[in-house]
Amino acid sequence: MSNILVINSSAAGKDSVSRVLVADAVTKLLGTNPAARITHRDLGENPPPHLVSQTLNGVRGTAATDQEFAARRLSDELIAELKAADTVVIGAPMYNFSVPTTLRAWFDHVLRAGVTFKYVDGAVHGLLAGKRVIVIESRGGLYSEGPAQAIDFQEPYLRHLLGFVGITDVTFVRAEKIGYGPEARTAALESAKTQISDAVDTPLVKAA
Ligand SMILES: Cc1cc2nc3c(=O)[nH]c(=O)nc-3n(C[C@H](O)[C@H](O)[C@H](O)COP(=O)(O)O)c2cc1C
Repeated sequence: MSNILVINSSAAGKDSVSRVLVADAVTKLLGTNPAARITHRDLGENPPPHLVSQTLNGVRGTAATDQEFAARRLSDELIAELKAADTVVIGAPMYNFSVPTTLRAWFDHVLRAGVTFKYVDGAVHGLLAGKRVIVIESRGGLYSEGPAQAIDFQEPYLRHLLGFVGITDVTFVRAEKIGYGPEARTAALESAKTQISDAVDTPLVKAA
């Protein structure tokens, strides 16, 4: 049975660019695999809390208090969802040149030494290999070419975080120039939908 984990992180409602495109990706993935099981994790509606002094040890140390155990349970739950998935779709709008803090908080709960990555002879070894990820990037401006390429802290960051846990089969779908007016927005959505079709038609690259 195939499992698809669907993560949204837009703070905007259902018509947000990334949410529309995430839904499009899910529809297309189900078209190729109608029996796939879908798990939704909406970080925009229900964000994981920031790690704070009362909870940090639950995720990055040894839990001892109720709050730390609660943080550990959430971390376990988020990791279990990710581990169970063979395909992950992530809606990741660009916020202040990077990702929404809700998505960052999700990574803070999911990147756990000994659970999703470990060090072997001083080198990091990701423990979640063999998954494919489609990241939907919605952006007000243009970052895939031109002078703003250097201030794209969204795509390289996501590529690094996913690679850190061993996920290297990542397709980035870019919906750019959303802030350039209605025509640019429509063109960006159409282009992104074509990118999604191409991604869904591409077979999973099995880890060596
Ligand atoms: C808090 C916030 C910060 C943003 N920062 C950027 C930015 O740094 N660069 C950019 O090109 N667009 C930025 N935008 C525009 C969004 O990337 C764009 O509206 C995108 O469509 C949002 O995705 P969504 O429609 O799925 O919510 C920002 C939007 C918000 C709400």
